Parts: sequence; C-alpha cells; structure tokens
Amino acid sequence: MILLERTDSTNRLAREYAAQGAAHGTTIAARSQTDGRGRLHKKWFSPPGTGLFFSLVARPAIAVRHYPKVSLAAGLAIGLYLEEMGVRDVGLKWPNDILIGERKVAGILLEGGESAAGPFCIIGVGLNVLSGKGDFPEHLHAKATSLYLATGRTFFLPHLLTGCVQALLGAVAQMEAGGFPEILRQWKMRDALVDRPMQWLTPTGKIVRGMSLGPDDEGILHIRDATGRYHQVLSGDITLAPLW
Ligand code: BTN
Repeated sequence: MILLERTDSTNRLAREYAAQGAAHGTTIAARSQTDGRGRLHKKWFSPPGTGLFFSLVARPAIAVRHYPKVSLAAGLAIGLYLEEMGVRDVGLKWPNDILIGERKVAGILLEGGESAAGPFCIIGVGLNVLSGKGDFPEHLHAKATSLYLATGRTFFLPHLLTGCVQALLGAVAQMEAGGFPEILRQWKMRDALVDRPMQWLTPTGKIVRGMSLGPDDEGILHIRDATGRYHQVLSGDITLAPLW
C-alpha cells in the first residue's frame, strides 16, 4: 500500500505502476488529489481529509472480456462494506455509483490496460467520508452526500481504507471463483433505478427517456423507452428523470 499526502490522480499513478508490473492488490491512496477523475471525463473533488481517494491494481484471473463485470462487483463490494459499517439505505446505480438514499456517496472509475506482466484493471474509488456540504461544489449539493452528512457519524479513514481494499479483493476473488451470478443477485437487490423513470445520456449526446430494467446476466443495463423500444446501455450517464 502506497500512501501519499497528495497526487494528481491515484488512477493515473496506479496505471503507471501497473504498466511497470505492479502486483495484484497494489494500492495507492492519497489524502487529496489535484486532478481527481470521474467517469465520463468528469472531475472528482478530492479536498484533503474529506474522504478516501485510492486506486487498486487488480489482475483478475478471468478473461478480459469479463473485466467490465468487475465494475458491478466493485460497487457492490463497497456498498456491502458500508452496510457492515452500519450505514443504512445503501443503493447502487449502474454501473458503479454507491448511493445513500438518493445521493451519491462514492464513485468508482474502472480502467483496463495491458502490461508485460499481463492485463490489469485499475479500480479507483472515491468515497466521501467526512465532507460537509461546503466541501462539494454548489451544483452537487442536491446530488452528493458523505458518510458524515448521511449518518452524523465520523469515521477513521485508515480503518475504512483497509476495509474497502479487503472488500474489493474479496469481490475479485469471488469473480474468479465464478461468483458473478451471486454478485448480480445481491447487486439487483440494491438497484436504486430499477422500474423507475430515468434518462440516459448516450455517448453521442442523445437523451433517451424510459424505465430502467436493470442489468442482464452480462451486467449490461437495459432500458425500455417511452415508445416501448429496448436499449442496451454499454456506456453513458444515467440519471433519475425529473418528476414532471
Ligand atoms: C465516478 O463516479 O465518476 C468515479 C469517481 C472515481 C474517483 C476516484 S478518486 C480515486 C481515483 N483516482 C481518480 O482520479 N479517480 C478515482
């Protein structure tokens, strides 16, 4: 485990280490990031001491075509760990956002790559732990939360970090043992979007409004739009549709 006071992005650094052969389980955590990255080219706000910002190098012993499933497995692992910590109302939003109620408490950026030591994936986790409202930019006030804001409790960051890393390594081991069907079953029990009106911003910028049907056996999300057409979501941004 490599602990840093500050870096640009632990995902970027972990990818560099992985490319040089870093072993499965190598973890890089920082107290803050100057260029924290989210999915879909978003920023991940990472002020010092407010949360966990870490990236795990994983070399899952499964076919590379199954790597995207690790995304769901990782989200569930963090969600289950938070439940173990006594956090209630944990939900999951495809592919790997972790919510408390309707607000996002953690996000995962999964990136794949190749190295001389074989393929790898980087599981980058941002978990808002001690953040107060003012630690989030204004446009996120209604959408984001932290463990502190949601539960009123404070948490010891190093303890949470170890717990999250163990949970992720356990999830990868479960995948390797053919446990994805069980992962999916548990994931679906916490699906925050299923059967709810939602919208999908496609990678080409189109908006599809419809109902989420949840992920299929491969982890791919399905949507039925307002005209009754079905869509497979491989990428893009999913949000709950406004109520009007
Ligand atoms: C998302 O929800 O869009 C994913 C957010 C992932 C953020 C984490 S913070 C640690 C790691 N380093 C990064 O640059 N991003 C991930």
